[in-house]
Amino acid sequence: MTFSRVCDLSEVPAGEALKVAGGGKEVAIFNVNGELFATQDRCTHGDWSLSEGGYLDGGVVECSLHMGKFCVRTGKVKTPPPCESLEIYPVRIDGRDVFVDFDAGYLAP
Ligand code: FES
Repeated sequence: MTFSRVCDLSEVPAGEALKVAGGGKEVAIFNVNGELFATQDRCTHGDWSLSEGGYLDGGVVECSLHMGKFCVRTGKVKTPPPCESLEIYPVRIDGRDVFVDFDAGYLAP
């Protein structure tokens, strides 16, 4: 596992999302009540950024293009039209630093 530092914790306040990039991938970091989760940034239904064009409500992000919803913990679809899950990524906090392992994205079983 290779974790890369992506941001300071203050850049992702609770209820917010931040797009980060590394290893040729764009990942959305979501802060759900102080707990961080990371998914692929692009909606699986279209070319749309979930960190910039999504609404985070609890642990669910709604894509603002067609209102599909995903669980940010598992990447699974909660509300269509998307039918494919998001890849999720390991995320780690060390002090104020946030790290993501861009090589370890996977689809939750
Ligand atoms: Fe996200 Fe259609 S592009 S729901």
